[in-house]
Amino acid sequence: MPDLSIEIAGVRLANPLVLASGIWGTTPELLERAARAGAGAVTAKTCTPGPRRGHRNPTALDWGHGLLNAMGLPNPGAEEEAGMLAEARRRISPLGVALIASIAADTVEGFAEAASIVSRARPELIEVNISCPNVAAGHGEMFAASPDAAAEATRAVKRATSIPCLVKLSPQVADIAAVARAVAAAGADGITAVNTLPGMLVDAETGLPILANRTGGISGPALKPVALRCVYEVCAAVGIPVIGTGGVGTGVDALEMISVGATAVGVGTAVAAGGEGIFARILDEMGGWMIARGFGSLAAIRGRAHRAPPVGRESNLPPVPGWRPA
Ligand SMILES: Cc1cc2nc3c(=O)[nH]c(=O)nc-3n(C[C@H](O)[C@H](O)[C@H](O)COP(=O)(O)O)c2cc1C
Repeated sequence: MPDLSIEIAGVRLANPLVLASGIWGTTPELLERAARAGAGAVTAKTCTPGPRRGHRNPTALDWGHGLLNAMGLPNPGAEEEAGMLAEARRRISPLGVALIASIAADTVEGFAEAASIVSRARPELIEVNISCPNVAAGHGEMFAASPDAAAEATRAVKRATSIPCLVKLSPQVADIAAVARAVAAAGADGITAVNTLPGMLVDAETGLPILANRTGGISGPALKPVALRCVYEVCAAVGIPVIGTGGVGTGVDALEMISVGATAVGVGTAVAAGGEGIFARILDEMGGWMIARGFGSLAAIRGRAHRAPPVGRESNLPPVPGWRPA
């Protein structure tokens, strides 16, 4: 088996697979189950400084190409979450698996407060979910939508904790590279890209939106090309490590994420759909693929998509019928 171990923001992982945030809550038993099933790291559900009820049902739908969800960040608040994180850490540390806490807030001060509270549980990393509305911006704009607001939230977290932080970006922005550069300059130790992409499903019979919240976030296979493009652009823009997340469900998907520059690979919807056995299947497939092609390490694969094709070779894609170069 090739060496699949990686290092992200100073934390060594046995393999690059990371349980994405929100998939299995912060229940210590479930995080332990993902760790025992082969994840290199597990991310807890996002918590906010105070408790949140979340949206009414229906909050999620499997529409055949992944999920559409609008949970509304239900969580018991950072204090209670910190207790669960401490218990999760006690269970998974002996397995050599890293714990990533996840925080969000609607003010810059809230990010600092949540970071300081979850730090008491000593997670290896803190993921800063900035895909939530910034109250100060006044019109529901996410922190992730503006390089300045994203940088402000990052700086607040960096001042509040010494635990390395990963800032989680949204694909719903005009220039994700600009946001990545801003958070890197503000001290982010790494980036998670991406969160879900806003979308909507409607029932033709009733004409009504299917989710109670009307719109929700697209995840799973439909998100993969968007995520690959975002990770590609982020990795071209900054030198800090990236957890590439969005639509990964096979070993080949994971290797594609690493080809566009990701250091680690988040897996969310595929775990929700297929259970924790997916981690071992992805790792097996990655190992088999690498052996068959003579790759001994992920370093040889990382960033291949950024290397320009040899001069004179226009494309290795089959010609598009009817299309002629200008
Ligand atoms: C049901 C559900 C709940 C989620 N909850 C969170 C969350 O609490 N915090 C967060 O940062 N991302 C959350 N996400 C986004 C995932 O962590 C991930 O970024 C996204 O689903 C794309 O990865 P995937 O295609 O592998 O699912 C959630 C996704 C789903 C499907």
